[in-house]
Amino acid sequence: MIDALPQAPERIRAFLDDRRPPTPCLVIDLDTVRESHTRLREALPEARMYYAVKANPAPEIIRLLAAAGCGFDVAGREEIELCLAQGARPELISYGNPIKKARDIAYAHRVGVRRFTFDSEADLETIATFAPGVSVWCRILVDSRGSQTPFGHKFGCAPDMAARLLVRAAALGLDPEGVAFHVGSQHMDPSAWEPWIAAAGRVTRTVAAQGITLRGLNIGGGFPGRYLIDPPPLADYADTIRAAIATYFDHPVELAIEPGRVLVAEAGMIRSEVVLVSRKSDMDQKRWVYLDIGRYGGMAETENEAIAYRLQTAQDHEPTGPVIIAGPSCDGDDVLYQRTPYELPLSLRAGDYVDIMSTGAYTQSYSSVAFNGFPPLRTYFVGGAPLSAAMDDASEVGEFAGRHVLAEFEGVSAELLDDAQFLCESLERALDKAGATVCDMSFKQFEPQGVTVLALLSESHASIHSYPERGAVFIDVFTCGRVADPELAVNLLRDMLDPGVSRISVVHRGQENR
Ligand SMILES: Cc1ncc(COP(=O)(O)O)c(C=O)c1O
Repeated sequence: MIDALPQAPERIRAFLDDRRPPTPCLVIDLDTVRESHTRLREALPEARMYYAVKANPAPEIIRLLAAAGCGFDVAGREEIELCLAQGARPELISYGNPIKKARDIAYAHRVGVRRFTFDSEADLETIATFAPGVSVWCRILVDSRGSQTPFGHKFGCAPDMAARLLVRAAALGLDPEGVAFHVGSQHMDPSAWEPWIAAAGRVTRTVAAQGITLRGLNIGGGFPGRYLIDPPPLADYADTIRAAIATYFDHPVELAIEPGRVLVAEAGMIRSEVVLVSRKSDMDQKRWVYLDIGRYGGMAETENEAIAYRLQTAQDHEPTGPVIIAGPSCDGDDVLYQRTPYELPLSLRAGDYVDIMSTGAYTQSYSSVAFNGFPPLRTYFVGGAPLSAAMDDASEVGEFAGRHVLAEFEGVSAELLDDAQFLCESLERALDKAGATVCDMSFKQFEPQGVTVLALLSESHASIHSYPERGAVFIDVFTCGRVADPELAVNLLRDMLDPGVSRISVVHRGQENR
């Protein structure tokens, strides 16, 4: 579908070769996100698009899509707050989760969200009470087993019930917009949409017989990314969907889609490092390749080997042999591929890189906070020139917006933590490598132990406070603007200090591009 987007890996590799951030890490090429959005919009220009935020909730992506006029499909209050903070208009936010708390519905309504999806009478009534007068879609239950990550029976109701509830929605003073469904994520068969468009057409006619016109149809997500197998072209999906609507609806419909994966998958690449290559017996034909990323570090969609990512190494031109690929944790389920036939170069050794392609969707936000002590997957961004004049103007407004990266490291050598010179030099080196301009450095050595280092930057400031007796150190790097990368600075410091435990959090400050 998005075959012709070859630049992303090149741009990402150039960034990785230049910056060499610690692995594993995900790099997103924002230009590719923008291109994917344009392509989908061109393929289905009649559809209103609501990006499924869960696919990749990075503020940088939300901001870019909001500036492009895209809407957002959100699951709850936090995703609404995220979208609004990145400049999304509330009327372009759709609260698509049919499982929601009354107080979250009330919050959404208070901030201007006017479109909700339901699949039960109880949720419909709660919407009518806490978000009076809004537009609603009723999600129908579909058989999503043909997709690579089916939903089971969790979402949707029977079409008969949907017809009844949409009539009831009108009686409750809501605006029944139409039927919604989702065929399951990563669907490789464009014809999968047809039976459910037919079902939606039947519901629409049943409701029309009671004097209520449903003007819309929401056909969800499911459009695939490019993994081991190339998906059909996007035009095939658009043609099938259009033909089915013409067949099963008596009137033109306002079409809505909720793409997630297709907008971001191809834009991302994870760089991982080989931790170990081994065999289970001297006769073993297959090598086990253990990477520094696994199921809990962002590769959640390898569960049941549902998503088979393309892998690339620097030795791909050399002879290869079969492998089982596993993650680094002490968990028996942390095996990525043992049935899907993968081959990797025979020369692959610990320390070599394995690049995991098309990993922009459903990776970072799935990574655990600290399973077995492994930190969440770090994300870096490349590309992403402003989309419009409006955004150019806004970047002026965002001049003082920035990122605080706060780190707490434990298990650091007490000797290092009491070495003021070392800490001062390390901070300065890390800031410099991360693109910050250091104006002034100062430090204070405390008695009997401990050091505080302060760095004054053109972009703001950074500090280190060490507690040698506890093996602990606190680091705060705050930079405004887009040039310096405070996360990179903290990651470099982590490499220098080699802590047993590290906790890193990022706080966005100020309003960027609003
Ligand atoms: C309600 C809803 N809409 C849209 C999506 C996005 O689906 P996809 O990433 O397959 O496009 C999802 C994902 O599961 C979803 O739950």
